[in-house]
Amino acid sequence: MKIFLDTAHLPTITQWLATGLIDGVTTNPTHLSKEGGDSTQLVKALCAQLGTGDVSIEITEHTPEKVYAQAQAIAALAPNVVVKIPCHKEYYGIIKQLVLEGISINITLVFSLMQGLMMCKLGVKYISPFVGRLDDIDVDGISVLHQLRNMIDQYHFNTQILAASLRDIRHLHAAIEAGADVATVPSAILEKAVTHPLTISGMVQFNADWDKLGIKQFP
Ligand code: E4P
Repeated sequence: MKIFLDTAHLPTITQWLATGLIDGVTTNPTHLSKEGGDSTQLVKALCAQLGTGDVSIEITEHTPEKVYAQAQAIAALAPNVVVKIPCHKEYYGIIKQLVLEGISINITLVFSLMQGLMMCKLGVKYISPFVGRLDDIDVDGISVLHQLRNMIDQYHFNTQILAASLRDIRHLHAAIEAGADVATVPSAILEKAVTHPLTISGMVQFNADWDKLGIKQFP
């Protein structure tokens, strides 16, 4: 299972890359807006920092013609860019065209099995079901992950499930159980995933016991 960081904050990404855990990054217009400054330069810096890891960058245009041209321009920014396009009917035609051109696509704002199936048929690299936003409207987001997993396995599609909008550690846990190919995780949730109180207290205990020996060098 791949772990992506759900942020455009370069220092946070740099810090997590040092752990060796991070396979990629997802951004959205909200993330880029939060960082401010020149978004094109930031995207280039993010892609350079990730090396070969996928970096999802979302389109900001609206009409299919402009989205198509913008998607090509975003894809040209770096070899590891994945263009994020909302799962909107108006864009289906251009999504297919971009896939045929060899551009990696991450379909965002996916909320149903039906939408997922349509995008798999178009041959996109990732679909991003938004777990948290479904839970927000009292729909079980995790059950949609299970439905998508079964559908993709049943029909042998190549599209990967990128579990997004994960709001807490339980969401991450459930995304793993549902067999998501990727989970994109905010730094605060990843911090909880890599921290265990029993590991910390166990280390404190071992250190205290070892110190009783008073040995200065070992071995
Ligand atoms: C990532 O691809 C999504 O844009 C992000 O996970 C959305 O999260 P949110 O629903 O908490 O804004």
